[in-house]
Amino acid sequence: MYRTHTCGQLRISDVGKTVVLAGWVQKARKMGGMTFIDLRDRYGITQLVASDSASHELNEAALGLGREYVIKAAGTVAERSSKNPKMPTGDIEIILSSIEILNKSEVPPFTIEDVSDGGEELRARYRYLDLRRNPLKNALMLRHRIAHEVRNYLDEQGFLEIETPYLIKSTPEGARDFVVPSRMNPGQFYALPQSPQTFKQLLMVAGYDRYFQIVRCFRDEDLRADRQPEFTQIDCEMSFVEQEDVLVTFEGMMKRLFKAIHNIDIKEVPRMSWADAMDNYGSDKPDIRFGMTIKDVTAMMQGKGFPVFDSAQYVGGIAVPGCASYTRKQLDELTEWVKRPQVGAKGLVYIKLNEDGSVKSSVDKFYTPECLKEVADTMGAAKGDLVLLLCGPRRKTQTMLGVLRIEMGQRLGLRNPFDFAPLWVCDFPLLEWDDETNRFYAMHHPFTAPKPAHLDKFYSNEKADLEQVCADAYDFVLNGTELGGGSIRIHDSKVQARMFEILGFSKEDAEYKFGFIMNAFKFGAPPHGGLAFGFDRVCALFGGQETIRDYIAFPKNNQGRDVMIDAPSYIDDVQMDELMIRSTAPRQDNA
Ligand code: AMO
Repeated sequence: MYRTHTCGQLRISDVGKTVVLAGWVQKARKMGGMTFIDLRDRYGITQLVASDSASHELNEAALGLGREYVIKAAGTVAERSSKNPKMPTGDIEIILSSIEILNKSEVPPFTIEDVSDGGEELRARYRYLDLRRNPLKNALMLRHRIAHEVRNYLDEQGFLEIETPYLIKSTPEGARDFVVPSRMNPGQFYALPQSPQTFKQLLMVAGYDRYFQIVRCFRDEDLRADRQPEFTQIDCEMSFVEQEDVLVTFEGMMKRLFKAIHNIDIKEVPRMSWADAMDNYGSDKPDIRFGMTIKDVTAMMQGKGFPVFDSAQYVGGIAVPGCASYTRKQLDELTEWVKRPQVGAKGLVYIKLNEDGSVKSSVDKFYTPECLKEVADTMGAAKGDLVLLLCGPRRKTQTMLGVLRIEMGQRLGLRNPFDFAPLWVCDFPLLEWDDETNRFYAMHHPFTAPKPAHLDKFYSNEKADLEQVCADAYDFVLNGTELGGGSIRIHDSKVQARMFEILGFSKEDAEYKFGFIMNAFKFGAPPHGGLAFGFDRVCALFGGQETIRDYIAFPKNNQGRDVMIDAPSYIDDVQMDELMIRSTAPRQDNA
């Protein structure tokens, strides 16, 4: 028998028991005549002791143990004389009777402790060692619990878990596809799914009116803290539903998770229109844990002789609590911060509402104190607050203010990761115009239905009309992160064909790419809708983090590489020939 108990199991009530444990040696140290060993497994750490009265062999064996050796240890549970209240097993230790080395280990390249001395790159190369550390272990355990809870909830709601294929034809979700060459169909490629979107809609046509899948998706896009090239969705679809049905069902799922994981009762998830989110928060994923909302002061600031504001389409700002005391240096630093390309503002105007009621501004010369005071009042500023103003094109400036708002919220400590403020953002525009390519793109995806009341505009050929068409599309937002999104779908092949037309697909192109779904819609497609949550993001946010990498067992780095297995990598010429593909890039050793 390798073990009678795990390394996290034994307590004071087990004193006197003869036990066998197995695990990894965290450390072994000699103190006086005794040798202490911390033995670790997935469940915890237990202290083992070779006492001075133990046999010479046992003492020698204990001393010879290196870090990360895998051992089996037998002994008797005893009460510790100096207890460690920080460890669940800290009241006891095992007085060893024998040790057996099951496997030796080389000295690990970094310390396997909660805070490791290894850099990110090194730990990524030895991910299997990094995964032995508590922070990663806890992250994966949380992931398991959330998946389990989600499956239970959706099962209770009558959803069927159905797998859809990974080798498919491209489904556009706005990113590039990863493609896979087909040996049996030379010169042809499968695409890996960016999401199972079209398949879940086909399942609705097939009559499986409640579908879900915890499913891997693949997107060849630039990586960020909350993006991986392969990631997991909780993907769902329902038939015979309106937006309200979908929102209620998935609000239920999130409430269930908050209760199960954090014992938090979420009463109601507020709803906000996309337009309000943009106007007041400068973001389609507002962080509503704090106020500091954006106010439009264009009318108040124009016509007073300040040319920068006078020529702008929009002037808006935020009131930052308690920051009127900012020094010149701090304000200069903040101005430089908003001018960085990531924010892109041309400059920053401030109004200090001093504690004595006076105002001080960078544009004193153009505005009377009364006018500045009125602006500050509109912002909801109190004495001691700092008003920050930006100007420019309306949406662009609101977005910059949104970024500034988040930064100030962060600096003021208003973004505690364990305060949870979920939100539905609804009524997204259906289409988004792109000046560069001179065409419309689907804001969510091309299967999203226009709101029935907006159908007239949907059939108009005027750009201004099309820009105003809204969709029953919704995002679930948590603490400033988009956790999930979905929509009511088009279920009429004619409406779908019109959508492809607006998106600039020729009839032939639409037929070639999407003929299968338009055909399916001719055979009794029910009204349907759904959504998908980013499962990795759900896990990270529930764990109090914004970076998803630690919630994925084997993630990719920012260059999209798995540095542990060294992928992607070159393949040999025989394989290339068989697949009828040829590399045009100069071949180098894998980086
Ligand atoms: P969408 O593209 O909004 O919708 O994706 C749904 C959710 O998936 C997560 N997500 C990601 N997570 C990690 N890495 C990525 N690269 C990544 N990309 C997206 C986000 C996002 O909210 N088929 C539709 C859903 C639907 O309409 O039902 C879709 O995929 O949390």
